[in-house]
Amino acid sequence: MNPFVYKNGVLHAEDVAIPDIAAAVGTPFYCYSTAGLVQRYTAFADAFPHNRATICYAVKANGNLAVIRTLANLGAGADVVSEGEMRRALAAGVPPDRIVFSGVGKSRDELAFALTQGIAQINVESEPELEALSEISAALNRTAAIGLRVNPDVDAETHEKISTGKAENKFGIDISHARAVFARARDLPGIDPVSVAVHIGSQITDLHPLRTAFGHVATLVDALRADGHSIDRLDLGGGLGIRYDDETPPTPAAYAMMIDETLGRLDCHLMFEPGRVMVGEAGILVTSVLYDKAGLARRFVIVDAAMNDLLRPSMYDAYHGVAPVRETLGDAVLSDADIVGPVCETGDTFARHRAMPMVDPGDLLAILSAGAYGAVMASTYNARLLVPEVLVKDDAFAVVRARPTYDDLLNMDQFADWQDLGQNSTVS
Ligand code: LLP
Repeated sequence: MNPFVYKNGVLHAEDVAIPDIAAAVGTPFYCYSTAGLVQRYTAFADAFPHNRATICYAVKANGNLAVIRTLANLGAGADVVSEGEMRRALAAGVPPDRIVFSGVGKSRDELAFALTQGIAQINVESEPELEALSEISAALNRTAAIGLRVNPDVDAETHEKISTGKAENKFGIDISHARAVFARARDLPGIDPVSVAVHIGSQITDLHPLRTAFGHVATLVDALRADGHSIDRLDLGGGLGIRYDDETPPTPAAYAMMIDETLGRLDCHLMFEPGRVMVGEAGILVTSVLYDKAGLARRFVIVDAAMNDLLRPSMYDAYHGVAPVRETLGDAVLSDADIVGPVCETGDTFARHRAMPMVDPGDLLAILSAGAYGAVMASTYNARLLVPEVLVKDDAFAVVRARPTYDDLLNMDQFADWQDLGQNSTVS
């Protein structure tokens, strides 16, 4: 089910016409579909019946409180990587006992905060972190349930910047060293080692590398149990890919079957940290055409969204579909165009060589599959205002993050106390 479809020649989010939102909010804006979120969460959850799984939505993919709450209301927990994300999850209504704290560089303050909130699990990624957590936990008179995140040295076959399971990546504890670290963890005060965690990368479109990694995890759990550890939980991370172009990512059912084959015999409770697959296809970025510029070598469709609003194309050469909000008629003349933003960098290009109809200033375009790693990665580069976010449900829409004002932007800075308004002031 795609929540973004044309009705009477106009792109809709569920039952709301995109131009109606644009008229109320201005452009650019992100638009998320509740039905899209529900459908993705339910498809994933239904693949793991019998309450054998906890789905901890990876908040980093889209941290809007309204998005997290939509998923939390369906039963989702949260995977967080900072105190800020933990606060977002808690504020959105995720119960602490469904929160997992991941990340290679958690500060001591963040670890203490997590312990006082009583979250379900902290995934430890190094021995120094384990020692620090033990100290903090013992001082607070707590016991930290931990997962040890292992690095299985498996190539996830995705973009190198989002690959995390190779030995040369900074993540996790080398799997060959995991038994020794588990033994150490058992002896440390304030630590209860309960789980093995693994996450090898993102936008994975083939099950093969996951199967290999989970096979290594199964071997490790056998060894740990033989060593006397009672491992009854596994955290299998996130990483399932979505369709941006012509990918054919595995279905949740195929993913679940592979997990049953590799890990089912261990009879563990499973935790997952899916991000992109929950929200990616449930969001679009809507932008207006500023100019249709006929360059000497190329046609450039210049839009009012830019790389600061959606970084993925410039950061990872990522493909995103671009669809005119007014449906292109069958007999329309199409020509090859690049879709670019106003930022002063050639990297500010959303798409190259797309067959585009003629467009006029003010026409709306939708950049597709932008719900994950879109708004969360936005910045104010070029002193552009952070892009607002809108959530649709049936025939209603709500602004779930408003566009800031220019005063908001300027007021983030302040002058040093030795500066005055004089044009030619000198420091004496
Ligand atoms: N768990 C851990 C420990 C992670 O590092 C990540 C993603 C996830 C879960 C969620 O992975 P997902 O299910 O979304 O693939 N900004 C990049 C993606 C970065 C992913 C980082 N870690 C992009 O736009 O493609």
